[in-house]
Amino acid sequence: MKKTVVSLALAASLSLGVVGSPATAVHVPEVHFNQGHFDQKVVNKIDADKIYNNIELLAKQPRVAGTEAEKLASQFIKKQFESYGYDVDIQPFTFYGYTPPTSIELNVDGYTDELAPTSFTYSVNGNVTGELADAGLSTKVQLEDVDLTGKIALIQRGEISFGEKVLNAAEKGAEGVIIYNNAAGALNGTLGEHNDDYVPAVALTKAEGEALKASAGNSATLNVEGAEAGDRTSQNVIATKKPTNKKKDTGDIIVIGSHYDSVAGAPGANDDASGTAMTLELARVLKNVPTDTEIRFATFGAEEVGLIGSYHYVSTLSDDEISSTIANFNLDMVGSKDAGDLIMRTVNGQPNLVTELAQNSSKKLNGTATPYGQGGSSDHVPFAAVGIPAALFIHSPSEPWYHTPEDTIDKISKEKLQDVGEIVGAAVYDRARFDNKGPKPKKGPKVKATHEMIFNEAIK
Ligand code: BES
Ligand code: ZN
Repeated sequence: MKKTVVSLALAASLSLGVVGSPATAVHVPEVHFNQGHFDQKVVNKIDADKIYNNIELLAKQPRVAGTEAEKLASQFIKKQFESYGYDVDIQPFTFYGYTPPTSIELNVDGYTDELAPTSFTYSVNGNVTGELADAGLSTKVQLEDVDLTGKIALIQRGEISFGEKVLNAAEKGAEGVIIYNNAAGALNGTLGEHNDDYVPAVALTKAEGEALKASAGNSATLNVEGAEAGDRTSQNVIATKKPTNKKKDTGDIIVIGSHYDSVAGAPGANDDASGTAMTLELARVLKNVPTDTEIRFATFGAEEVGLIGSYHYVSTLSDDEISSTIANFNLDMVGSKDAGDLIMRTVNGQPNLVTELAQNSSKKLNGTATPYGQGGSSDHVPFAAVGIPAALFIHSPSEPWYHTPEDTIDKISKEKLQDVGEIVGAAVYDRARFDNKGPKPKKGPKVKATHEMIFNEAIK
């Protein structure tokens, strides 16, 4: 089994926030229509009830990357693809995972108010007692003449990453670390990756941290238990539709993708059983339609812990396959009743073949072209990073249930599923059918994924 090594993607159950600038300007440029006849064959077959039923089956429980539930979901997806007549490829990969602590206790002598510490992803376990010491921002400069030997460092969020703060304090002898927020609200952070030099680290709110400063000098006890880091296995599930007629093979490949894992505690009906079930439906509908382009239906594992499955998939592509892949349609959160309108997001905010095809199809179907803007945070990022035209299909603004236990089947809209399924189905078919006269693929510039495109506020 190949181990995917993607340094940017080596993380973390991030539970907060959105990467990139999701609310950036949305452009609706002039759309020039493909004058070729518009085949209703695909559109008419898309059945929102079938998508809905598969969401319901997938979203009975959370599907956390590397767990048995995720594996069961992969087997369900494989069976569905097979029932439509596909050969299915299971692509396993390993990644370094983290299971959060089962208990965290923090007590400070003389401090009687309630404290509700939360963990940082990649915090180590430990039961430590020592003097509580105000360590400011815990930068190297600030700690230069500070000795934290045997102490528990109380640190403010800001300037450098959480991981660096913990390492700087540990280097000065701290046995434990408390980092408090610098703005209102809970701090759901990650140390970014595992490090043998970490000491137990927990988070507090701004109010808790500032109140605790008055107790600096008192004895404190910090106990973190049950955290576990180590190798986990996940898998991508891929069904391939070869061009119908070898002689008419354009050599082009289109990837329709989605992720089937969820965050812990969330059944992930919309994020992203919706995209997975839509990928299945598009596979069903397109199965016997004559096409001159290869179509891959790829459902990825381990998206929620750093886009690991899609990075792995892209890492297995040959240079030839990369240059033959003309489009990646990424379906992630495509059916919430409580979210806004459909939008496409590209990593650099620029239009590409995917947005062009979908603007054509949406204009024909609905009279208005689906707008696009800039955004990362999902499985189109690894495709864009190697220069493949890619876009995320999502409703914006997101529903309030995003990444919560309330992301359940009752929040799913069949109308939205039907709409997105038709737009994407027609867009793909427009390009993949014989004698297409649709837009020619333009290879975008290679967009190197920056750390900010992949991770969010959670590291700093
Ligand atoms: N479906 C989300 C991405 C998303 C949500 C994009 C809302 C735009 C608006 C995806 O599953 C997710 O949660 N991604 C992670 C990033 C990843 C690198 C771990 C995120 O945004 O925290
Ligand atoms: Zn998602």
